[in-house]
Amino acid sequence: MSETLSPIDTAKFVAAKRAVEFVEDGMKLGLGTGSTAAWMVRCLAERVRDEGLKIVGVPTSTRTAELARSLGIKVISLDEAKWLDLTIDGADEFDAELNLIKGGGGALLQEKIVATASDQMIVITDAAKEVEHLGAFPLPIEVIPFGWQTTKALVEETLGSMDVLGQSSTLRMNGDVPFITDEGNHIVDLHLQRIGNARQLALVLNQVPGVVENGLFIDICDKVIIGHGDGRVQTK
Ligand code: 5RP
Repeated sequence: MSETLSPIDTAKFVAAKRAVEFVEDGMKLGLGTGSTAAWMVRCLAERVRDEGLKIVGVPTSTRTAELARSLGIKVISLDEAKWLDLTIDGADEFDAELNLIKGGGGALLQEKIVATASDQMIVITDAAKEVEHLGAFPLPIEVIPFGWQTTKALVEETLGSMDVLGQSSTLRMNGDVPFITDEGNHIVDLHLQRIGNARQLALVLNQVPGVVENGLFIDICDKVIIGHGDGRVQTK
């Protein structure tokens, strides 16, 4: 990479580059979604091209699939791969237990399925995403379009009995129309401010009819690689 990067892109790039060093020949990889994951796909493609690394990737969104293919990475479906050696993805927040909020890019459903079907998940991020308590970043949930307003109301009611500070939620929009995920669903963002018991919340949210999945990743991430704007890299 010879171009001059901004501090935030430097942070994402150095984290991505370090994570890709964990990739070994023959691996089946989960490829995350988002701007940091896009750096990882570019770094991975460089190793494929320069070292002749033989890997296959299972993308977690159509965006990532297009990028990976365009850079010469072989893309297969999760059902073809069956199980993955490693998934590398970004996150919106992570805490000291390496629990995460994901879904800022709207790909949480495929991301959670792919990460869960992997021996290991490495998260790549910049330092701003480290938090003491999850929840300042709005927690995305994926809901089916049928009756989404009822689902949203039920979720808000459920939040009333949970250990969270906020209870409001908003339908994610794409301009004037609801955002549509790769699975044809909507995203509702929950404005919780602070989540007291993320494990319990993750379980309870998925009990509400109409909720397909939530963006809390509990006990899924094994390692977080944090990039800094000055090029330093930390691992947790
Ligand atoms: C997409 C995600 C992303 O990994 C998350 O939003 C982080 O994105 P970025 O690296 O662009 O900050 O969960 O659904």
